[in-house]
Amino acid sequence: MQDTSRLTASTTLPRWGNRLARLRGWENDFRQLALERGFTELNLPLSLPTSELTSRSHGSTLLPAAPRFLDSNGTEWSLRTDLTVFSAQIICRHAADLSFPFSLFYSGKVFSPQGLLGAEGFRLGHASEFESYEFGAEIMGEDSLKAEKKLLNLAVAALGSFGYRGVKIVLGDARVLAQFENLVTQRMSEEPGRSRFLNQLRDAIAAKDAALIAELIESLGGGLENFWNACPAVRMLQDTAKTLRVDHPGVEFTVDPFLIRQRRFYSGLVFDFWALDADGFLKNVGGGGRYDSLMQHFGHQRSAVGFMLRDPQTTGVDDERQSGVTVTSRPIRIALPKGRLQSWGLRAFADAGIQLSENYESTRKLVIKSSCGRFEFLFVKNADVVSYVERGIAEVAIAGSDLLDEAETQSVLRPMTFAFGRCQICLAGRPEAETQLFNKTRPRIATKYPHLSLRLLRSLGLEPEIIPLQGSVELASVISYCDAIVDLVETGSTLRENGLKVFRELSQTRVQLITSRGFDVQFQTLLRHWLHQWRELRHVAEHHFDIQCDEVLKNDSDIKNSGSD
Ligand code: PRP
Repeated sequence: MQDTSRLTASTTLPRWGNRLARLRGWENDFRQLALERGFTELNLPLSLPTSELTSRSHGSTLLPAAPRFLDSNGTEWSLRTDLTVFSAQIICRHAADLSFPFSLFYSGKVFSPQGLLGAEGFRLGHASEFESYEFGAEIMGEDSLKAEKKLLNLAVAALGSFGYRGVKIVLGDARVLAQFENLVTQRMSEEPGRSRFLNQLRDAIAAKDAALIAELIESLGGGLENFWNACPAVRMLQDTAKTLRVDHPGVEFTVDPFLIRQRRFYSGLVFDFWALDADGFLKNVGGGGRYDSLMQHFGHQRSAVGFMLRDPQTTGVDDERQSGVTVTSRPIRIALPKGRLQSWGLRAFADAGIQLSENYESTRKLVIKSSCGRFEFLFVKNADVVSYVERGIAEVAIAGSDLLDEAETQSVLRPMTFAFGRCQICLAGRPEAETQLFNKTRPRIATKYPHLSLRLLRSLGLEPEIIPLQGSVELASVISYCDAIVDLVETGSTLRENGLKVFRELSQTRVQLITSRGFDVQFQTLLRHWLHQWRELRHVAEHHFDIQCDEVLKNDSDIKNSGSD
């Protein structure tokens, strides 16, 4: 019979033929590896009554995004979006019958209502997929590093048996963020300013927005160096990495103190697993960490640490590799928005040693390689830049923070901020419309940034009706199609020439280098090289928080010579 399994290469479920056989093979391998290491298999239910997933400490459900349904008695059930929370609930319920430490493993479907894109800040090949498959293991009731070591030993063996290549494990620690938060709490006593500041700092850390982190920490008083040196979790992380490197000489461990996993319940060491895809770029294939406070939510105080892995079909990493095709590497793709940022971007990259192989001004080509062949520039529409990186089409791009904030993405990082191109996002309009605007219950606002505008205007106490437009937004105000506009103001001449005025400055935008999360893991040395070059030439904002604390990279004497033409 013809094997049709290849036809569904980008789909996780349903699986049949050889694809299903391979999944079953991975399940068996995982089971065997876990049993050999003393783990007990757990068969988790697909759903639980929502009331049983409610935290005893804060009273709300631990799986807020879970799809729900009612049974015939009117009881509400939640589908599992996460195997960890389900296993914690089950173990707590049966704790009296178990002896701890207890090592367990499981595999099965999880439901991802928002699709897998962005859920953990990485891209999978099938953004709209509702169901996916996960493998996981946990150790409960063991609070020493022994538990992490035993788990990572199983994870490394499983990654190998799934056929993943070029595996990299990134280590972080949830206590680093907690220490940042302590610092803020000590220095700022005033609410609501403190909560706003904390949220801004958390978002900046999650996006690795090094310039914004520097700005925020400096605004608290005290130099950056002092802060970093006073962070004991960072030193502990380096020591843990050393121990793990000895245990697993074949695996590359790197330290990223700003590794933040989406779930808020992590309390100690956290890790992300990465592996090469068929193009030679790292894709996230799982992760985990310590979450000592999770079981408390179910009324049972016990430490816990665990991981989850996705198989190569779920991650879209390699159907082909299974049939013997080797990994090839394509050029690193850099997306540049056409228009005002294009020539600036090209100049910055040329200054970092990356030249175009042909003159872009005399061609209408949309893809041009660098002369060294290692990079490829994609010339894209401004509004599309973010999605090229989010979806893994390009690894790097230059984008305005207005577009990033509008996209509300957590899938891309913002490691560098350029010194040029700062603009204001303003509420503006016809001078005579200003007073009326603030008295209206639902003013009509035209903008290129519907989501961002709504957030900014709500913080002013307005509840607007948004009219989304693609460009020339000022026109809507001139002809009274709207009460006001929210738009970028650089020199102010477009507003002036159309008889409009700024009512409020809402926020400042910055031009940033953005990267995929995988690129940040794989090409840290290259990023540091660019930062070094651009700092010297004053292309980037002067202060960037030194996010990378891994001593291997810090001492890398080749940084200056790496990665360029
Ligand atoms: C931007 C912005 C304003 C103008 C502001 O538009 O949307 O219209 O620039 O610049 P100024 O303050 O220096 O006059 P852009 O040129 O990107 O074109 P668009 O309106 O078609 O999006």
